[in-house]
Amino acid sequence: ETEFWLESHSVIPRGKPFLLVVLDGWGENKEDEYNAIYKANCPTIKALRTGAPRRWRTIKAHGTAVGLPSDGDMGNSEVGHNAMGAGKIIQQGASLVDDALESGSMYMGEGWNYAKESWASGGTLHFIGLLSDGGVHSRYDQLAALMHGAFDHGCKRIRVHILTDGRDVPDGSSVKYVGQLEKDLENLRSHGCDALIASGGGRMCVTMDRYEADWSIVERGWHVHVLGEAPHKFESALEALTKLKEANPKVNDQFYPPFVIVDKEGTPVGPIHDNDCVININFRADRVIQISKAFEYENFSAFDRVRWPKVRYLGMMQYDGDLKLPSHYLIPPPLIENTSGQYLCANGIRTFACSETQKFGHVTFFWNGNRSGKVDDTLETYHEVPSDNIQFNKKPHMKAAEIAKAAQQALLSGEFDYVRVNFANGDMVGHTGDLEATKLACESVDQGVKLLVDAVESCGGIYMITADHGNCDDMAQRKKNGEPLLDNTGKVAPLTSHTLAPVPVAIGGPGLPSNVKFSDSLPKAGLANVTATYLNLMGFEAPPSYEPSLLAFD
Ligand code: 3PG
Ligand code: CO
Repeated sequence: ETEFWLESHSVIPRGKPFLLVVLDGWGENKEDEYNAIYKANCPTIKALRTGAPRRWRTIKAHGTAVGLPSDGDMGNSEVGHNAMGAGKIIQQGASLVDDALESGSMYMGEGWNYAKESWASGGTLHFIGLLSDGGVHSRYDQLAALMHGAFDHGCKRIRVHILTDGRDVPDGSSVKYVGQLEKDLENLRSHGCDALIASGGGRMCVTMDRYEADWSIVERGWHVHVLGEAPHKFESALEALTKLKEANPKVNDQFYPPFVIVDKEGTPVGPIHDNDCVININFRADRVIQISKAFEYENFSAFDRVRWPKVRYLGMMQYDGDLKLPSHYLIPPPLIENTSGQYLCANGIRTFACSETQKFGHVTFFWNGNRSGKVDDTLETYHEVPSDNIQFNKKPHMKAAEIAKAAQQALLSGEFDYVRVNFANGDMVGHTGDLEATKLACESVDQGVKLLVDAVESCGGIYMITADHGNCDDMAQRKKNGEPLLDNTGKVAPLTSHTLAPVPVAIGGPGLPSNVKFSDSLPKAGLANVTATYLNLMGFEAPPSYEPSLLAFD
């Protein structure tokens, strides 16, 4: 594999154990009372900032700097881990879909042709996906464009299966998106297209599980989208949201129970049948791989599908490059090649990658350019700590201690050159919008980092600690002037989503030569610059195709 051979670094020696920590959802943000990190007791991470000069800095983690369509787009874990794993700014799914819609190539590809044959022979077109303009997994304007595009291409019957968000956008905004969708459907109906919402539920309760944390989430989705069966039936989606909230005021957009829309006679308006077409409008993979398997795999045992209709199923993109899943898709996914894993394996580096279920695929699948397999079975160990299936503000420490312990053992064992972990807490608890719980989450992460920094200290290694995007660094929605926004009860409206904040990078450890610092010539650096940096820290020159290393040598 000479293609992936790397030269030895001229300053940093090889052979020191290397630790890379990703703090998920951990930005560097204004220090006020809604910054959970600032308010929490995080001595280890705070000491990195004030410690050795020029061994701590921030980098960009959002917008065009990481391959998102605009600088108004917050970062997310897919983009972040793709960039850190591959050393490049990768045009992300959201941008690729925008381009294809703009140029019209969306409607000229193989995927669209395959879809069209369904309605040309009388099938219904179903859309399933996250209903918001969060831009992390999907975007409403792209769904609207596709619905109108389908109608222009002869489709006469459309059903939409909605997953309410409240995680990448504020809680309660589902009503607004449903209203917008109903308007667009009304418009289609007035032009002679039979177009309706057919089923739905909250994204964390219905359909959008990830990394096989809880298949029952996907099973609930199957029952409402495909079978048209649910304990809750309503004549409109708006009625569903209103009545379900009346019945349980604690329910939020993320966790709406599954529901089915029925007509006046009580008959479901849009179960999925043979010869129908199903388009999954999410461009991001992690939370739609399982539902894609349910539609696509003949042999499937994760739950009883009861009925498995022979449909034409398409993803907005192909979600898994190793599994070729799904086999049909509208847009070819970004091709992420020459990843750090390919280089490091070709150079004999023994890797231990670890996180808990909720972020396990982030440090493996996303890291390796959306491939579910390993780069090299003999050199890599991937260790998953099972996540609990609960709302994480109830247990904000999550599995930080277990992850830290596993990584500590890996570092001290001498069996690995490179230990890579992701601590999920800042992000997963941050997404609940619960500030008090998120402070505890930050403290658990800090303790985990302490254990690992101490391990690096005792084995003479080198560490890099960074993050993929902001989240727990701001837990309040803001007015234009930056003041916290109050809801109609006078309380501060919680921010459940990621932030636009830059993220920290810190380096150190006894194995790091004292003349190695951060360069001050790369003020605009972003997540993709991290990769060349850690290749250097492992004693290699980075490949020339990578974004430049952040290091300088005094
Ligand atoms: C999620 O899927 O949980 C959120 O939409 C994004 O979070 P992540 O990008 O941190 O995974
Ligand atoms: Co997140």
